Amino acid sequence: MALRAPSGMNDTLPEEVGRFQTLERAFQECMHLAGFREVRTPLLETTSLFSGAIGEITDVVEKEMYSFTHREEPLTLRPEGTAGVVRAYIEHKVQNREPLSKWYYMGAMFRAERPQKGRYRQFHQLGAEVFGDPGPHVDAEVIDLLVRFIAGLGIAAPEVLLNTIGSEEARSHYRTALIAYLEPKKSALTEESQRRLERNPLRILDSKSQADQALLADAPTLHPFLSEEDQKHFDAVRRTLDALGTPYRVDQKLVRGLDYYTRTLFEIKAAKDKLGAGDTVAGGGRYDGLVASLGGPSVPAFGFGAGLERLLIAAELKTDPSVVDVVVLPMGDAAVLSGVKFARQLRDAKIRTEVETRGSSMKAALRRANALGARYAVLIGDRELESGLWALKDLNAHAQEELSPDSIVAKLSASGGAR
Ligand code: HAM
Repeated sequence: MALRAPSGMNDTLPEEVGRFQTLERAFQECMHLAGFREVRTPLLETTSLFSGAIGEITDVVEKEMYSFTHREEPLTLRPEGTAGVVRAYIEHKVQNREPLSKWYYMGAMFRAERPQKGRYRQFHQLGAEVFGDPGPHVDAEVIDLLVRFIAGLGIAAPEVLLNTIGSEEARSHYRTALIAYLEPKKSALTEESQRRLERNPLRILDSKSQADQALLADAPTLHPFLSEEDQKHFDAVRRTLDALGTPYRVDQKLVRGLDYYTRTLFEIKAAKDKLGAGDTVAGGGRYDGLVASLGGPSVPAFGFGAGLERLLIAAELKTDPSVVDVVVLPMGDAAVLSGVKFARQLRDAKIRTEVETRGSSMKAALRRANALGARYAVLIGDRELESGLWALKDLNAHAQEELSPDSIVAKLSASGGAR
């Protein structure tokens, strides 16, 4: 049987990687401009990290993790970035070194979901986490940063959905009210929601079943249970977003699928025409209790994760299709040595160069130069070796001149690597 990549896991061939790199560079630049530094954590973590951080009764932990036991150690391929980053923050006692940490990351995440457009089993997130700022202004600032990044990719009108789920105390009162409302209707709930009713009723709110959603139509909402402090925090997030001129819509139904959140939550939706149902390109929020609950100090935190593939589907990204600037074409054995050396000299001058080492015919070599998007070809044959002047062929202008190797390097450097 022909070998294939695992379902929902994609190869990214070189012609597509350029778009990935353009997006990653734009993200890096955006984060560096805001004083964030990159953190890299392992793809594998101890399974209990994720069940502890994300919550036992969540879709991700119950159904979507790639978990296995290796030499008696339960391990899981990371389904998201926050848990590992928090683990690293705690493990390296970062809080003792700096009171405020702003970190970003880019990398592969794994969730065993049903694959469809924009939803994969291996996907990539661009994420950021801020440790040590209780908000509210940083919440709005980071949301605004992300919105501007997304808009800057040429994605029209990203829509920000905003909510607060308050502190643990508010949620515990709300949980009681929600259970009291749903208990008499229990038998009409889906089996999964019935199971969740006792242990994690808030998860029922993001049930995908229409029947569950119909039952929830008149359910109590969380906002009346917010403490004064929670409400003040939310009002200030909104005021800061208003001051920044970043539009948002408050959606009291927004709960998100991970259990670590406190207070501010948000999602960004974009390009429904291209993404369909999976139009959430980013999501995040505040998680003031997570660092302490995983055994670290009591440090407030806020962050987001954006789906790289979804952004790529939604964005109009232009990438340079050319692979090299110059192709060096040595003709004959004697010329190959000079050609390989000269290619090295061009690369030292930061000019992207391929040297033809297969002894192809001039015609085939020029065809390849075209396919690589090269602007110039340098022809080295017996005559050129003798005269010391090599033929520089401008493939766009169809012009040719004879120059010394050093003059060619100088000329191409002056024209900015021929691009
Ligand atoms: P999340 O909402 O689970 O949040 O994922 C963030 C983004 O990752 C989603 O909005 C979506 O664009 C993308 N994504 C998720 N699953 C898939 C998939 N199967 N295929 C393609 N893209 C996907 C988190 O992961 C949190 N860690 C975000 C966060 C950081 N909150 C605080 N800090």
